[in-house]
Amino acid sequence: MLITGKGGVGRSVMTAALAKLAAKRGKRVLVTEVGDEGDDYSPLARHWNRERLPQHPELIEPNIHGAVLLARTGQELFLKSVLRSGTIARAALGSDALRRLLSAGPSFREMGVFFQLLSALRQKTGPNPTHELILIDMPATGHTLSLTGLPETLLKLVPGGPIAAALKEGQTYLNDPKLASAWIVTLPETLPVSECLELIEGLKKTRMPVGGVVVNRMPADPFTAEEREGLGPLVDQHGWLGREAFKKPLVAHRELARLRSHTALPIFVMPELPHEGLIAAMAGLLDVATPLPLPTGGA
Ligand SMILES: Nc1ncnc2c1ncn2[C@@H]1O[C@H](COP(=O)(O)OP(=O)(O)O)[C@@H](O)[C@H]1O
Ligand SMILES: [Mg+2]
Repeated sequence: MLITGKGGVGRSVMTAALAKLAAKRGKRVLVTEVGDEGDDYSPLARHWNRERLPQHPELIEPNIHGAVLLARTGQELFLKSVLRSGTIARAALGSDALRRLLSAGPSFREMGVFFQLLSALRQKTGPNPTHELILIDMPATGHTLSLTGLPETLLKLVPGGPIAAALKEGQTYLNDPKLASAWIVTLPETLPVSECLELIEGLKKTRMPVGGVVVNRMPADPFTAEEREGLGPLVDQHGWLGREAFKKPLVAHRELARLRSHTALPIFVMPELPHEGLIAAMAGLLDVATPLPLPTGGA
């Protein structure tokens, strides 16, 4: 399950809430995020009181393993599988020239992340899989599309050999709606909804199945329609402080309606919640949600 969307919309809190909910339901979960070599802090790991997620899957809570997907780790796994020797793979990656090459091309970076994901997916199959649900806190829109579009892009360049084989194997998991889906998180505001609609199209083009959309931080409206009618002209006339806040619920409903009119995908509306206990409250709401953005079937 890929959790994607524009930066700051709540992808990481949603990923954490889904992980905790699935674990509570007895699923063995692997929670991951796409990281960068230089990252020294992860907003996702914070939900497990850690600065970073471990480089290889490690138990971070009962039923939950965590790992960061790093290009370098994946490249090493890939070379190891091709060269059948960890020592040679590490030595190869230790070479300055090869390192420069692998970090220069964006496709090489994505390939590393892709391959690490693939090795996690391989462990998910079989009679007694290590993980039954893999959650990925995806990077912002553009990077998400380079990752989901990677197989198509690279297979044109390298149609045969071990890279192609890995890409094709990855496609059989990621492009199968029974096995994988992307959920897009957005806010009920103009630009995020527009970007969400573009992302739906972009994901379709890369053949990534989309499960649905979470409209996050829906504001509550403290006013009745009558009160709004009375207050509206006053707020407009005086340009009072709080005008934005007064209009926010209206904008939110308009944008939610616009989203609904442009997509037939399931939409789950998540309210604005208090900061204290956010993840637990979110997991609680997801627990009774329809449509529930959590695969319920077996592995
Ligand atoms: N439903 C919500 N109610 C209140 N605050 C929220 C909600 N969802 C997210 N937030 C807050 O929004 C901020 C961004 O969330 P985060 O998950 O880090 O975004 P992203 O990973 O998409 O960049 C965080 O401070 C988080 O606590
Ligand atoms: Mg995040």
